[in-house]
Amino acid sequence: MSSLNQKNVLLGVTGGIAAYKSPDVVRRLRDAGAAVRVAMTANAGHFITALTLQAVSDQAVYRKLLDADSESTMGHIELARWADVVLVAPATADFLARLAHGLADDILTTLCLATEAPVAVAPAMNQQMWQHPASQENLATLRARGVSVFGPAEGSQACGEVGPGRMLEAADLAERLSALFESGALDKVKVVITAGPTHEAIDPVRNITNRSSGKMGYAVARAAAESGAEVVLVSGPTYLSCPRGVRRIAVTSAAEMHAAVLREIADADVFVGVAAVADYRPEKFHPQKIKKHSDRLTLELVRNPDILAAVAALDNPPYTVGFAAETHNVEKLAREKLLKKGVDMIAANQVGDIDIGLESDENALTLIDRGDAVSLPRMNKDKLARALVAEIANRYCAKSRSKNPRRARR
Ligand code: C5P
Repeated sequence: MSSLNQKNVLLGVTGGIAAYKSPDVVRRLRDAGAAVRVAMTANAGHFITALTLQAVSDQAVYRKLLDADSESTMGHIELARWADVVLVAPATADFLARLAHGLADDILTTLCLATEAPVAVAPAMNQQMWQHPASQENLATLRARGVSVFGPAEGSQACGEVGPGRMLEAADLAERLSALFESGALDKVKVVITAGPTHEAIDPVRNITNRSSGKMGYAVARAAAESGAEVVLVSGPTYLSCPRGVRRIAVTSAAEMHAAVLREIADADVFVGVAAVADYRPEKFHPQKIKKHSDRLTLELVRNPDILAAVAALDNPPYTVGFAAETHNVEKLAREKLLKKGVDMIAANQVGDIDIGLESDENALTLIDRGDAVSLPRMNKDKLARALVAEIANRYCAKSRSKNPRRARR
């Protein structure tokens, strides 16, 4: 049975050509057992009639904020409370901008502000409009507020152009909306995460390491566990306590981390490498403390295994996510890393002069995959980890669906 069964879905329709698909969205949602009420903007009326949406939803359609007729059936605040979830499909660039800025000058923006229910949007617009920094910034704001973004798909557009901006198909939207009600976006998914620094021993009291508190990796582990995943956290030395519901494997060196990851990875669905793994280790471990007899000391270092690249190169790799801390040219270098390491996604952050990242409590990330970059703006690491895990869950689900369309989710 679909998780939409007996759920109240408020469908918002805005003024884009994809509004011609809205009756099909209503039908799919109702087929899944949901009760659907529709609110449409004035411009939506240029593409689809209220009568059509009324016929398929079997309910009066909300078109105006101050409409005595519709207010007498169910007032807008009552409607906002009635909804278990709000889906805006299609969501135009203009609507996303107004939502991001908290406007409440029509029925739909008002409902979105007044509701406590989760809000999901299915963007649909010309590909240039989608790629415009203003649209992307609005999307980032909405994502950071917890709005789910479904799509858009790429392909030929009504305007004759080709690119990202097509609204997802009705069946796909119904399935994604249903997934919001499942106990967690990563239910029954095994996620292996590396976190913290590694220590590469020189002698019994000295080591080579990287600056890393482990906070980001632990926050990702906590967020993945909250989303229902079975989480294994392979952690280098940190002072942090293990998040609830997470199985931690404590390691010291990169070689130990590598071995622990390979032991856990065969049945894993997702791998997130957050650890600041030392790239080199001393070739030789001195079993006794090195005495400072001479002015110079030369250590011979050898390369450590690249754990992330090793996971991505497996025969049947999990959905693989790496981190990249860069001081400049963040997006360009992250794209290069994505290809070089053969991973599915890189979460890149700028380190150096600015006071975020590494050991701080806050961070900002740019998510790079084979499509458009997505920015998650500066926020505390727990919140950021939740937003990152939501993005990973979305992409992992889409990838496993395309690999095996009959197995939409496990
Ligand atoms: O190549 P670079 O160190 O910048 O790559 C960073 C990413 O690769 C991080 O996700 C880190 O956890 C991972 N990594 C790894 N093993 C290494 C070096 C980096 O898994 N030896």
